Formats: sequence, C-alpha cells, structure tokens
Amino acid sequence: MKTLEELKMLKEKALGNMGIRHEKNEAVRVLVGMGTCGIAAGARPILSVLVEEVNKEKLEGVIISQTGCTGICQYEPMVEIYDMDGTKTTYVNMTPEKAVKVVHGHLIGKKTIDEYTLGAVTTSQWKTIHMAKSHILVCTGTGCTSSGCEEIIVKLNENLQKAGLDKEVAVIKAGCFGLCARGPIMVVYPGGTFYAMVKPEDIGEIVQEHLLKGRPVTRLVYDETQEKKM
Ligand code: FES
Repeated sequence: MKTLEELKMLKEKALGNMGIRHEKNEAVRVLVGMGTCGIAAGARPILSVLVEEVNKEKLEGVIISQTGCTGICQYEPMVEIYDMDGTKTTYVNMTPEKAVKVVHGHLIGKKTIDEYTLGAVTTSQWKTIHMAKSHILVCTGTGCTSSGCEEIIVKLNENLQKAGLDKEVAVIKAGCFGLCARGPIMVVYPGGTFYAMVKPEDIGEIVQEHLLKGRPVTRLVYDETQEKKM
C-alpha cells in the first residue's frame, strides 16, 4: 500500500512525463536517413550541415535525429520533416547545399521546397520514362554504389548525349537487383538485357552496339547458367 505522499509523487512524475511528450509533439522533427544506403550516399555531411545551420540560426522547437533505411535507397540521402500539424515532407537526393536551403525555406520560411521532394522527383522521372523509347535501369543499391555505379551513370549520360540518344533513352536509378557481388548491374529495356560487372570503359560499346544498332554486348551479359556452375 502506498502512502499519500508516494501517490502524490507518482502523479507528479506522470504529469512530468506527459509534459515531456507534449513538448516533443510541439517540435518539428527532422529525420536524416542514416541506414547503410544513406551513409554510402553521403548522409553524414547532410546531418552535420542541418545541425550546424539550425544552431547558427538559433532555431527553437526543431529536433534533428537519425533514422534507418526507408526502402527507397535510390533516393538517398533523404531527409524527412514532420511539421507540428503532422504533415510529412520527404526531401530526396539531398546535398549539403540543398540542406541549407531546406533549413531556410522549410524550417524558417515555413514553405516546402517542392522541387526537392520525393513527389517532384518521381513525377519528373515518370515523364522521362513515358517519353523514352528505351530505358536503362542502373542499380544504385549499396553494393553497386561501392563498385562504382555512379561513374557508370555519368558515362551513360555522356555517351548517350554524344550518340544523340539522350532524348530516346532514359537512364533510371533503381534499387538492388539481388546480384550485389556482380555489380555494377544495369538492365536495358526493351528486352531486359542484364549487364553485370560493367566498367566505365564498357559504356561506349554498349551505347554504340546495343542502343544504337540493337546488338547486345554478349560478353557483358549476365549469364545465370554460368553463375550456377561456379
Ligand atoms: S546492390 Fe546492385 S544488385 Fe544489389
């Protein structure tokens, strides 16, 4: 049996906890994706810039914290902002410069920077996808990122432009295909030709032979049957 004094203390403690929860609900929450994919894509400097900028501007009522992978690794680094009214905004493909703009535009100016949001990026990607005749899906999962997929994307864009195919062929960043040890992986549609262990110096040949002349570069095509024999 608790004494009256103990019960009073318990009540005060409970009210105190409620106060803390209430205080947290009154803050804007900024979450930085710090899963392996986020870190590989450069989330650490984003987190530092956000913390520095929020401190520099002496913003109150903003809580910055880390979160794990949200399953759409191809859009990392990502920052999610939960405003006090419960609205969630997801900023994708963040850079330190964009992070500064988000602090000033969203957190201080209270206006969403639409062009950095997931909705804007996916809409523009869908427009490109619909207009293109061919599509190249390049894996940007953690494994392929560490084996150099970003350089592959740069080379693809360069070579497609040189060949005059940049309007007809869309290069799309995709998630993991499950063949991480054989990366970088890219798949060309129509046809679904799977290229594995692609090197930057192979891209010119793939663009000229496959995209321009319709002849897949067989020496680079992923052979599942060979894999089983290995
Ligand atoms: S990370 Fe590219 S296939 Fe898994």
